[in-house]
Amino acid sequence: MIASRVPLLSLRQITKRFGAVEALVGVDLDVYAHQVVALVGDNGAGKSTLAKVISGVLQPDSGLIEIDGDAQTIASPSAAHTLGIATVFQDLALCGNLDVTSNIFLGRELTDGGLLDDGQMEQVARRLLLDLTSRIPSVRTPLSELSAGQRQAVAIARTLIGSPRLVVLDEPTAALSVAQTAEVLTYIERLRELGHGVILISHNMNDVRAVSDRIVVLRHGRNNGSFDAATASYESILAAITGATSPDDEMVRRMAAFR
Ligand SMILES: Nc1ncnc2c1ncn2[C@@H]1O[C@H](COP(=O)(O)OP(=O)(O)OP(=O)(O)O)[C@@H](O)[C@H]1O
Ligand SMILES: [Mg+2]
Repeated sequence: MIASRVPLLSLRQITKRFGAVEALVGVDLDVYAHQVVALVGDNGAGKSTLAKVISGVLQPDSGLIEIDGDAQTIASPSAAHTLGIATVFQDLALCGNLDVTSNIFLGRELTDGGLLDDGQMEQVARRLLLDLTSRIPSVRTPLSELSAGQRQAVAIARTLIGSPRLVVLDEPTAALSVAQTAEVLTYIERLRELGHGVILISHNMNDVRAVSDRIVVLRHGRNNGSFDAATASYESILAAITGATSPDDEMVRRMAAFR
């Protein structure tokens, strides 16, 4: 569902080189509120580089970034945060020895008269997890005692402080069990229901097709197809990822048989 015709985020002709490596060449991407856009592509296709450009970690060499139709420079991760862009990177960067609340507020602690306001932080942490429909029993549980799926919930809840509009998730289901993956997919659906735009980077085509509205393919740093997730065939997406000339290509048919 597209709530507004102005994209939350619009990238035009984004280019990024690392020396001789063309990581991104003229990449376009639109993400709307209430929309999950999957970003897929083979290893080295440029997905993480694009996520870093959007989250202010890397600066593009050229191209235009618009947020709500206004041209913006995303000069740093804190600038991205101010613009309403939150990212969960693949390594999560959470602290196992700290509890759920402390992880959600790490580096952004709430204070009251110069002291940490633990009561307020716990209350907000509970509400954010409830918003995600997460089933973590207590916000005082150390992170090391949670499942990998629950830890992903904490990482996603952490993005929700500061009321982001766009959430970027880099491989949130990599290394998760089937049940934990299903749990994380429900969080992504919740983010969409809450009105956020979501960019989901994933290697798992089943996850991507289950949860996304649009599937954008990168290949060798370039756009190589954009599909309506509801109607696109598995073979046509695979063909775009691999660079096959047609979904009937022998290699694509063999890969599709292994899904
Ligand atoms: N900091 C860097 N310095 C030099 N080259 C880089 C750097 N970061 C990425 N690259 C190169 O840019 C290209 C795109 O990499 P990127 O990590 O964005 O791909 P990806 O689609 O995320 O791949 P994967 O699926 O393996 O995570 C690759 O050729 C990679 O080697
Ligand atoms: Mg990557």
